[in-house]
Amino acid sequence: MRLTIDTDAKILTVDEAGERRDVDLYGQEAFDLLALQWLKTSWNRKYSYTFSWMGRPIIQHPDDMARVQEVIYALKPDVIIETGVAHGGSLVFSASILKLIGKGRVVGVDIEIRPHNRKAIEAHELAPMITLIEGDSVAPQVVAQATAGIGPDDTVLVFLDSNHSYAHVLAELEAYHHIVTPGSYIVATDGLMRDLWDVPRGDPSWRHDNPAAAAEAFAARHPDFVIETPPWPFNESPLDQPVTAWPNAWLKRLR
Ligand SMILES: C[S@@+](CC[C@H](N)C(=O)[O-])C[C@H]1O[C@@H](n2cnc3c(N)ncnc32)[C@H](O)[C@@H]1O
Repeated sequence: MRLTIDTDAKILTVDEAGERRDVDLYGQEAFDLLALQWLKTSWNRKYSYTFSWMGRPIIQHPDDMARVQEVIYALKPDVIIETGVAHGGSLVFSASILKLIGKGRVVGVDIEIRPHNRKAIEAHELAPMITLIEGDSVAPQVVAQATAGIGPDDTVLVFLDSNHSYAHVLAELEAYHHIVTPGSYIVATDGLMRDLWDVPRGDPSWRHDNPAAAAEAFAARHPDFVIETPPWPFNESPLDQPVTAWPNAWLKRLR
């Protein structure tokens, strides 16, 4: 595809599959095309590797962080399980919102928690709200450890941000979906990989091997889950879709 921006004429020209069309540079279609290109370009420049939350590096797009905050505040979960800890930023992010809400705890699972990361997370002021578990997120004993202590009345939210292959995300969805509360979500992050197969740091295999495809396959097998973007608590815009590195991510449990 070729996108040509004419800022003087306020036109975006789209050349695709032998056809050319002009769209309003300030309209919805241009917004969608440019937002996707921004996500691809920013991913390639590792934009999401430039943020921290309360002292810990967090590897997320800020738009997604803001949306996660909206969901945590609305749901007020008792337990948030996250696979993929890295430096601990997303654990601290979730814990900080729970702390302000006044309840809840966070469980982080990673196949390798590096000593300097563990030390920093354990020294953090929110550490009492965080449990770290080292191991493969789909190993049965790890799943059992991560889900231990969840009470029948607990509201549970799950984020999957570890190995992003189709097979692993699907295995994580199968391993953790049973503990998700109706009305809550299991979130298969980083589905943007499906659109990153043609960028310099991407991989052609990602076109099919990605979390968005895993979420679709899971939803097709589990009618009690539906892929649904969480509602926006505030929206005085003409927009209705997020700018997100997590397309198809939010699997809501219906019952
Ligand atoms: C993208 S990082 C997580 C970023 C973190 N959630 C954040 O927002 O800052 C992915 C992490 O997944 C971990 N990981 C990879 N494969 C895994 C597996 N099979 N089980 C658990 N963790 C895994 C890696 O060690 C890495 O720390």
